[in-house]
Amino acid sequence: MNKKIQDIPKVELHSHLEGTIPPVLVRKIAKRNKIKLKDDLFTAKDSFAWSDFVAFLKAYDEASFCLRKSIDYEDITYEYYKSCAIEGTIYAETFISPDHADAVGINYKEMINGCARGIDRVEKEFDFIGRLIVSCVRHLGPDQAVKVARLMVDNPHPYVVGFGMGGNESMYTMSDFAPAYNIVSEAGYPCTVHAGEVCGPESVWDAINSLPISRIGHGVRSVEDDKLLVELFKRNIALEVCPGSNLALNVYPDWESHPLKHILESGISVSLNSDDPPFFNTSVGKEYQNAASFFDLSAEKLYEISAMAIEASFVDDQTKDKLIAKITG
Ligand code: ADE
Ligand code: ZN
Repeated sequence: MNKKIQDIPKVELHSHLEGTIPPVLVRKIAKRNKIKLKDDLFTAKDSFAWSDFVAFLKAYDEASFCLRKSIDYEDITYEYYKSCAIEGTIYAETFISPDHADAVGINYKEMINGCARGIDRVEKEFDFIGRLIVSCVRHLGPDQAVKVARLMVDNPHPYVVGFGMGGNESMYTMSDFAPAYNIVSEAGYPCTVHAGEVCGPESVWDAINSLPISRIGHGVRSVEDDKLLVELFKRNIALEVCPGSNLALNVYPDWESHPLKHILESGISVSLNSDDPPFFNTSVGKEYQNAASFFDLSAEKLYEISAMAIEASFVDDQTKDKLIAKITG
């Protein structure tokens, strides 16, 4: 990252905590928990091995399988947020999946408290704030999503600021998840959902018409429908754009065909995000650097993107004001 980009206060609104653990840390945590990882999880070059979207989701599940204790969540939160802070990130809010914890016997409170300790440690050492978005897993179905929503609402924690959903976009419809989203929305939490990544603009229409959301995870394929771009702008729905992830997962073949500039020109609120950094060989810093290099975005535009991201974030208003002041100087 060059110095100019390093100095820009960065904001990340879309990453998955279980997808931020680098291979070396997966191995370290698996070893201390005496977990045998699948031999085909890593490539010969020590990156994660996967070939397409479904294989990626499987590798992601397998990597998160090393997590067995509250301290594991503390360590991955600390390591990830530290790496963000070193790149000049001032705020990140990150998806966390109670379903992945539950699958290996970690309860919700142990998971959240572990993350919270990691956040506290990073906040003490760096000029950085971290928050969590509880995420359900789409392919586990609507009933499981309701359970996750209830768990979150029944066990409030000051660092849990919103609700979301990732997983396989081609399963179920958005309205199937309205009961889960309504539980958290009625309890006062803002929401986001993955759409318009693997599936086309119809998935984004489906999301904005069925769920109480103020943001879309990815949403890049909205550019295939001009009316949708106008609607997103009118409703002030922000897109959490993850260009490196989109290229790695072959949503777009190259930088030239990625629609980041088109979305920005539509006036829609945009943030720049890493999604699952070690899987896609990226980081929030690299995303800012790539936006400058491949989309020719000026430093001023990148400052503007950071400010838009804070406005769209789920953090409380007082913290928002403090963060905006850091960006606008
Ligand atoms: N879970 C982790 N990363 C994801 C992505 N890019 N899309 C959907 N679900 C995910
Ligand atoms: Zn994602």
